[in-house]
Amino acid sequence: MAALSIFVIVSFLPSIIALDPYSKFIQLNLPSGATGPESVALDSRNEGPYCAISDGRVLKYIDSNTGFVDFAYTSPKRTKQLCDGTTDANLGPTCGRPLGFSFDNLINVLYIVDAFLGLFKVGPDGGLATLLANSAGGVKLNFLTGIDVNPITRDVYITDASLTYDLRNITQPNLVTDSSGRLIKYNPRKNEVTVLQEGLSVPIGPAVSFDGSFVLFSEYSAKRVVKYWLLGPKANTSEVLRDLPGNPSKVKRASNVGEFWVAVDINVQQPRFTTPYGYKIDSFGNLLFVKDLEDHYYNVPVSVVQEYFGTTLLVGSRGENFVGIYKKTLF
Ligand SMILES: *[C@@H]1O[C@H](CO)[C@@H](O)[C@H](O)[C@H]1NC(C)=O
Ligand SMILES: *[C@@H]1O[C@H](CO)[C@@H](O)[C@H](O)[C@H]1NC(C)=O
Repeated sequence: MAALSIFVIVSFLPSIIALDPYSKFIQLNLPSGATGPESVALDSRNEGPYCAISDGRVLKYIDSNTGFVDFAYTSPKRTKQLCDGTTDANLGPTCGRPLGFSFDNLINVLYIVDAFLGLFKVGPDGGLATLLANSAGGVKLNFLTGIDVNPITRDVYITDASLTYDLRNITQPNLVTDSSGRLIKYNPRKNEVTVLQEGLSVPIGPAVSFDGSFVLFSEYSAKRVVKYWLLGPKANTSEVLRDLPGNPSKVKRASNVGEFWVAVDINVQQPRFTTPYGYKIDSFGNLLFVKDLEDHYYNVPVSVVQEYFGTTLLVGSRGENFVGIYKKTLF
């Protein structure tokens, strides 16, 4: 009997380990009082990570001695005295609340979407970002949740979660049934904003494909990933790419061409409990891998899983005060 269980354990071990190669975890703590890194990314020189936090700042990680420092902010009304460390959503319109950002490494610009204030850009020295747009189709940008730069055309795609509700209303039960979200394009050469699709169920986190032929985004409430075609015979139309067992947040291009990471929270209401995952899918919606994040993100939602170098996952969560890094280990 003992010999049999040893046999069973030994023969199952390699497949268990192979199931999760991202087994090394590094935790980069935010400055004291800071919380909620929703978006995380490296810049063109692989410096950072940068993250956008609840009190309205975009921070940049320097090294283990210095930690994170202030990099950029969106609201001209923001003061450090009033805003640093705040988690009060009602201060959002004053302090700003960047929920997403995306580097355009070709022109050395960081585009930022602020949930309350609109679309911004900032240069490599950071500081106060410049407002690019705060309305689309004559309607206010009400609840911006995500952004990505088209790697081919350099156009910018953003998601506005709802025309009715904003970040202060996320605990409202009615948000779940809302379908007034929009997918929007910003053309930086013409400074032009175009609404591509309306009637979406809390859209978040667009990601344009490597070849610029389509953009994926999630519908948080509808629990699915949608593909919107930019080129080809199906251009300007969309289709459901994959239904998910939980609520998806940001979609990000993975290191391999044609692959994407989606942050997914499986939420149980009674008793209230959240289990966060990273879902890796391909451009056809096939599921490639599921990364369980519960070990370091216990009962908190995860907003983004961003892969670098094919080996490293940066993870952001509005419920934590650190940026997590999972690395592949060699066997
Ligand atoms: C959202 O929250 C704000 C601030 O509390 C409030 O003024 C507004 O009426 C709310 N919107 C809805 C649709 O409930
Ligand atoms: C998609 O929309 C753009 C902009 O309105 C237009 O130029 C293009 O011809 C459309 N493509 C298709 C296939 O309908």
